[in-house]
Amino acid sequence: MIYRHVQGVDVPALGLGTWLLRGAACREAIRDALEIGYRHVDTAQAYENEGAVGQGWTDAGFARDEVFITTKLQMNTTARKSVRDSVERSLEALRSEYVDLLLIHWPPTRGDVDEALDAMAALREEGKARLIGVSNFPSRLWLHAIDRAPVSINQVEYHPYLGQTRLLEVAREHDQLLTAYSPIAKGSVLRDPVLREIGEEHGKSPVQVALRWLLQQDRVLAVPKAASAAHRRANLDLFDFELTQHELNRISALDEGRRLIDPAWGPDWD
Ligand SMILES: NC(=O)c1ccc[n+]([C@@H]2O[C@H](COP(=O)([O-])OP(=O)(O)OC[C@H]3O[C@@H](n4cnc5c(N)ncnc54)[C@H](OP(=O)(O)O)[C@@H]3O)[C@@H](O)[C@H]2O)c1
Repeated sequence: MIYRHVQGVDVPALGLGTWLLRGAACREAIRDALEIGYRHVDTAQAYENEGAVGQGWTDAGFARDEVFITTKLQMNTTARKSVRDSVERSLEALRSEYVDLLLIHWPPTRGDVDEALDAMAALREEGKARLIGVSNFPSRLWLHAIDRAPVSINQVEYHPYLGQTRLLEVAREHDQLLTAYSPIAKGSVLRDPVLREIGEEHGKSPVQVALRWLLQQDRVLAVPKAASAAHRRANLDLFDFELTQHELNRISALDEGRRLIDPAWGPDWD
C-alpha cells in the first residue's frame, strides 16, 4: 500500500468503494478486503451500509487505527445539530468513536454550507473526525471551503475519460488531496484498446493500468468498488509495476470530458 500525507495523517491511497454494496455481501466484502490488504473503506450515510461496514471491519479483527474509514453526510445536512446527530448515528453504525474522514457528499442545494463546515470543524476538534473534506465540489466551491474550514480532501469523479486538471492545481496549491471516485469509469476502461495495449506490456489488465495511472499522480487517491472477490484482488495488485511517462501521457490523452455521474442537483462543474 502507498500512503498520502495530509495534516499529519497517513491516508491509504487505495480504498474500497462500497456504493451499492449492502447487508451481508457488504459485511463480507469489507472483511475480505481488509484481510487481503486494503486499509481504507469508502462509505456514506446515503449508501445505507454503514452498519455492514462496521460489522465487516470488526469481523476482520483489526485494531481501529489500522483501518481508514471515510463517510459522507447525507445531502443537505447542513444545520449544526443535524450534522452532529447524523455523525453520532454513523459512528454507532460504524462501531467506532471517530471517522478518519468526514465529507460533505454534494454541495448543498439548500441550507448553509458554512454552517456544515463549521459543524464538521468542531467535530474534528473533538476528535470525532480526524480529517474533514468535501465531495463533488468544483474549484470555486472547494476554494471557498478551504477558506472557511480545515478541509483537506475533495472526492470527485476522476478516470482516464474525465480529466481533473483544475482540481489538481487547487490540490497542489493548497496542500489538499483529490480522491478519484468511479476510478475505472464503472468498469468501462476494460474495453479500452490503449489501456489494453499498455497493460499487455506489463502483464496487467486495463483496469489495473487505469488505477496505476491514478496512483502515480501526486496527491491522488482512488476508491474502486468491487463486489467480486476476484476484482478486489486484482485492484490491489498494483504495486509491482510502474507506468512510464510516455504511457502516463497516452492515458491522460484519453480525456474526453465524459462524466458518468451528473445528477440534476449537481453543481456547475469546472
Ligand atoms: N462521492 C460521490 O458522490 C461518489 C459517487 C460515485 C462513487 N463514489 C465512490 O466511489 C466508489 C467507486 O465508484 P463506482 O462504484 O461508481 O465505480 P468504479 O469503481 O469505477 O467501478 C465499479 C464497477 O467496476 C467493476 N470492477 C471492479 N474491479 C474490476 C476489475 N478488476 N475488472 C473488471 N471490472 C471491475 C465492478 O464490478 P463488481 O462490483 O461486480 O466487482 C463494478 O461494476 C463507489 O463505490 C463509492 O464508494 C462516490
